Amino acid sequence: MSVWWVLLALSCLSFSAGLQKTNRYEGYKIYEISGKARSLSFSETLNELVKNASYYEVFSGFNGGNPAQIMVHPHEQVNFVQLMDDNNVDYDIINRNVGLTLSRQFETNQMLRQWFPYNGRLGTERYYSHEEINQFIEDLAVKYPRRVFLKTVGRSYENRWLKTITITNGDARRNKNVILVDGGFHAREWISPAAAIYLINQLVENLEDNADLLQDFDWVILPVVNPDGYEYTQLSADTRMWRKTRQPSSSNCIGTDPNRNFDFHWNEEGASDDPCDDTFAGAKAFSEPEALVVGDLIHSYADRGQMYLTLHSYGSLILYPWGWTAAVPDTEEDLKEVAEAGKSAILEATGTNYTVGPSTTTINYAASGASDDYAFNAGFPISFTMELPFGGTGFDPPASEIDRIVKETWVGIAAMARRVIQKYPLA
Ligand code: ARG
Ligand code: ZN
Repeated sequence: MSVWWVLLALSCLSFSAGLQKTNRYEGYKIYEISGKARSLSFSETLNELVKNASYYEVFSGFNGGNPAQIMVHPHEQVNFVQLMDDNNVDYDIINRNVGLTLSRQFETNQMLRQWFPYNGRLGTERYYSHEEINQFIEDLAVKYPRRVFLKTVGRSYENRWLKTITITNGDARRNKNVILVDGGFHAREWISPAAAIYLINQLVENLEDNADLLQDFDWVILPVVNPDGYEYTQLSADTRMWRKTRQPSSSNCIGTDPNRNFDFHWNEEGASDDPCDDTFAGAKAFSEPEALVVGDLIHSYADRGQMYLTLHSYGSLILYPWGWTAAVPDTEEDLKEVAEAGKSAILEATGTNYTVGPSTTTINYAASGASDDYAFNAGFPISFTMELPFGGTGFDPPASEIDRIVKETWVGIAAMARRVIQKYPLA
């Protein structure tokens, strides 16, 4: 074999190593279009345009005058900017190179892992793996055997254990009312499990300040609904934006949107039949073991459950049913009252201005088959999707922002819980 072959082979090797370093979001930009600037006709043009999923991803939608954020593929940017200029639409570029941001964040997160190894407690220094989170709740149950109870409620497609933590005040009274909270439906929304962890810490370790929240109520929390997706987003900058589960479909594409997979008006609105789409509803209702687990949880607590809260990001929204139709339930005033209590508490604490409203009209799209509608329909009088605030490029607040966001979120959740406790006392 000549030396040339060796050289060629070597250069191929280094070439492919180079390719691997290149991030799949290299050169992607995120544009923000102001709410005011969007005329109705342009909204329609834009809605058509962004259906091209290989070029566009709409992060935060065209809701009631709020700015929209759209990520655009490098090849399409000239075209996109031209279109906005032609329509006199103002825009800002809020991220010039998504790939660069994501790969830097990846490095930082790797470093933080080294600096803050798991030591039995989970602080707000960094994001944690699903395994660490499960270990943490196990450890809490050992440390507080009279107050904290773990239950294995199922496993994910890739066989990760789904465990709930039930937090009580330890008085051993049975059949209290229940508040059910979950996080981590969507893989990339890391701040959601982080907020669930902070809530668990507060209820377990800070009984003094939160005794009223546990007097007549038990809290049941599933911190990571979709651990396969969550772990996948932690692998690399390339996978950071994954949203769905990881179960392959009949086509070549992987994953289902777990929040379109519930058996209530399944696949009617705002969900996709295409397994390659980010909002794929699944081959059938409850095709995803993770969604089924949450559905079962909802039923098992429906008789005692007064509030169901599912934590997502982003948008600073507290959404109440319905999400499958623009109609609103006749108990809207109750839902609104509780949500407003959360909104005011957060506004007062930090100035973050949450928007409260019925899901469909507030985010301007119906999305059926979601867990909030399912829980409300099953009997939870209060059921919310809480969309935590924007951070980083949107779904990825840097680790340095975890502390601020989860504390603020807790203020809102505690205020809503107090209102629920007042409105729905133990019978
Ligand atoms: N961003 C969430 C999602 O798309 C919103 C869900 C709101 N609830 C609803 N039933 N549509 O999953
Ligand atoms: Zn979400």
